[in-house]
Amino acid sequence: MAMGNSLRLTLSQHRCLEAMDIQIWKRRESEGSSSGQAQTGQSQENPAQNHPPAGNPVAPALVNTGNKPDDRDDRWKKLQAAVSRCTQCRLSESRTQTVFGAGNPDAELMIVGEAPGSEEDRLGEPFVGRSGQLLNEMLAAVKLQRSDIFIVNILKCRPPENRDPRPDEAAACADFLHRQVECVQPRLLMAVGRIAAQNLLGLTSTLGSMRGQVYSYGRTEVPLIVTYHPAYLLRSPSQKRKSWQDLCLARSILQDTGDRHQ
Ligand code: URA
Repeated sequence: MAMGNSLRLTLSQHRCLEAMDIQIWKRRESEGSSSGQAQTGQSQENPAQNHPPAGNPVAPALVNTGNKPDDRDDRWKKLQAAVSRCTQCRLSESRTQTVFGAGNPDAELMIVGEAPGSEEDRLGEPFVGRSGQLLNEMLAAVKLQRSDIFIVNILKCRPPENRDPRPDEAAACADFLHRQVECVQPRLLMAVGRIAAQNLLGLTSTLGSMRGQVYSYGRTEVPLIVTYHPAYLLRSPSQKRKSWQDLCLARSILQDTGDRHQ
C-alpha cells in the first residue's frame, strides 16, 4: 500500500472525495506519531484538533512481521486462545463467553464495533442481533458481504446491561485488537460508532466531527474511517444516507489501494 505521511489518493479517489464535499489535507511532518491522524476532512477545522491528546498514544507499534501464513495462523490461534481465557477485567465474571470476532481473516476491510450485546454474548459472534442485520444490509449496499470482511469489537466481553465500556475495560482489551489488526493486515479499518472511534483514535471528539476523514492507525498507518453505529441508525434512520456516504468512501479507498475488492 502506498502510505507515507499521508494517503496517496488517486485521481478517482480525489474526485469521489470532492463529490462528497470532503477536503484533503496533509499533516505536517513534525506532527507524526503512531496514533490516528486525520488526512482528509469535511470541514476547514484546524487539523491539530484531531490529534490525540498528548501522552495518550492509542495504538502501539504494529510491526509488520511479514505475515507468513504459518506464522500468522499460529499467532491467530494463540490470540483466540488468549482471548477465550482472558480474566483481565471484571467483565470476565459476567460473560457467557468471549466474542473474538468473525469473518475472513484475510479481509481487506476490518469493521470495529463497540462490545458484544446479549445475542452476541449468547452466540459468541459479533453483530448477530438487530444491529448486525442492519450492518449486513449496509454492506450489501456497497456489494460487500460478511465473508469479505472481518468484524471485531473494542471489547471481547459483554458489559452488563449493555452499558458503555469503561476505560479500564477498553485498555485491558486493547492489545487483543492491536494483535488482530496485525494478523489480518486489513487495507482499511472502519470504526462503527463513537465508542469504537474514540478508543481506536484516542480522541474525545464527536462522531459527527470524526466522520468523513481518513485517519491512519498504528505505525503501519492502516487507513481508518468512522461511521455511525447500526444501533444508532435503527433509532435515527434519517442518518442512513450519511452512513451510505461513509461506505462509499470505504469502497473507494479499497478500490484505490488494491484490486481484490473491485
Ligand atoms: N454492537 C456492537 O458494537 N458489537 C456487536 O457485536 C453487537 C452490537
